[in-house]
Amino acid sequence: MKTIPVKAGKPYEVLVENGLMDRAGELLLSALDKPGKLAILTDDTVDGLYGSRVQQSMEKAGFQVCRYGIPHGEGSKNLTEWGKMLSFLAQHHLTRTDCVLALGGGVPGDMAGFAAASYLRGIAFAQMPTTLLAMVDSSVGGKTGVNLPEGKNLVGAFYQPRIVLCDPETLKTLPRETLLDGVAESVKYGVLGDLPLFELFERGQWENEVEMILERCIAAKAKLVEEDERDTGSRQLLNLGHTLGHAIEKCSGYSISHGHAVAVGMVYAARLSWRRGLCGESVLVRMTETLQRLGLPVSAPFSADELLAVALSDKKRAGDSITFVLPQEIGKCTLSQTAIANLPDMVRMAIG
Ligand SMILES: NC(=O)c1ccc[n+]([C@@H]2O[C@H](COP(=O)([O-])OP(=O)(O)OC[C@H]3O[C@@H](n4cnc5c(N)ncnc54)[C@H](O)[C@@H]3O)[C@@H](O)[C@H]2O)c1
Ligand SMILES: [Zn+2]
Repeated sequence: MKTIPVKAGKPYEVLVENGLMDRAGELLLSALDKPGKLAILTDDTVDGLYGSRVQQSMEKAGFQVCRYGIPHGEGSKNLTEWGKMLSFLAQHHLTRTDCVLALGGGVPGDMAGFAAASYLRGIAFAQMPTTLLAMVDSSVGGKTGVNLPEGKNLVGAFYQPRIVLCDPETLKTLPRETLLDGVAESVKYGVLGDLPLFELFERGQWENEVEMILERCIAAKAKLVEEDERDTGSRQLLNLGHTLGHAIEKCSGYSISHGHAVAVGMVYAARLSWRRGLCGESVLVRMTETLQRLGLPVSAPFSADELLAVALSDKKRAGDSITFVLPQEIGKCTLSQTAIANLPDMVRMAIG
């Protein structure tokens, strides 16, 4: 088993092991004081695939388990579905000594985390990610929340899990396109600070190296979370490709998934960086070719004006500026604050 420590305000561990699911109960118990009630919050797809197996493992460890699945997909990440999660916790009489387990991808993960942060002003919570994206990104670091009609993730809380349990075997049931969402986020870690990881994707040899990729990406995320838990400095680097990525997701009515939108957002960030003289053209070319070869999109059918309208409501906006993450080399990025007044020019340069 690989153990990656996250030295956040409240430290915890990310455990990675094939087949870990059947031992999840005892592993969760090791991070809690005692087994009480446990609410498994998931989505309907993941529930059908893994719900009863996880429940059995939890019951074996002594937890009293209840289970709730929202309809799968980003469309459920809203206040209405989140409210139903909270009602479920209340109806099952969870108390302050009980625990929430988020089982699934980033959607149930973010929502269940936010439910745990808010219910009774905070009860214990753990993450069991089942998508590559959730394993390398959303399950670690304590960002939780839901979307508003006005924009993505506009409401939420920083709330760290007690433990994160990753079973890479669950990735075998992921549809290809969903796996690719996580591949995009993993390429992001390569561009941010891990050239050999990027080169692995560049050579197209990643499929047999998933555990190694998980370990490197989670360790990179843990490091940025440790440096800047509240996301006011270096953690913002993780937003590479996300400023315009989020705008693309929203413009598409969420029919373009998060990781696919981030892939396009990363290419746009590289083009902007190149046009501003911050990196050589080879950075843009290598990123574009690598993402394309992996089967990810490198452009989206939205005009600068469409993207701008949405980017202006982005939560990465601070007062009258917005922060872009711009690659300088493969393996090195910088934060660039841009006045809102200059945003139209930036978006035009980015989309080509
Ligand atoms: N909190 C953070 O730091 C953070 C970081 C990155 C992304 N996010 C959020 O994560 C979300 C995207 O996450 P996601 O891509 O995991 O979305 P998701 O949770 O919607 O999962 C994608 C799809 O895969 C299915 N699925 C999940 N696990 C499966 C499995 N093992 N086998 C078969 N199907 C499975 C789900 O039912 C769903 O239909 C976005 O809402 C994004 O904002 C949060
Ligand atoms: Zn992301």
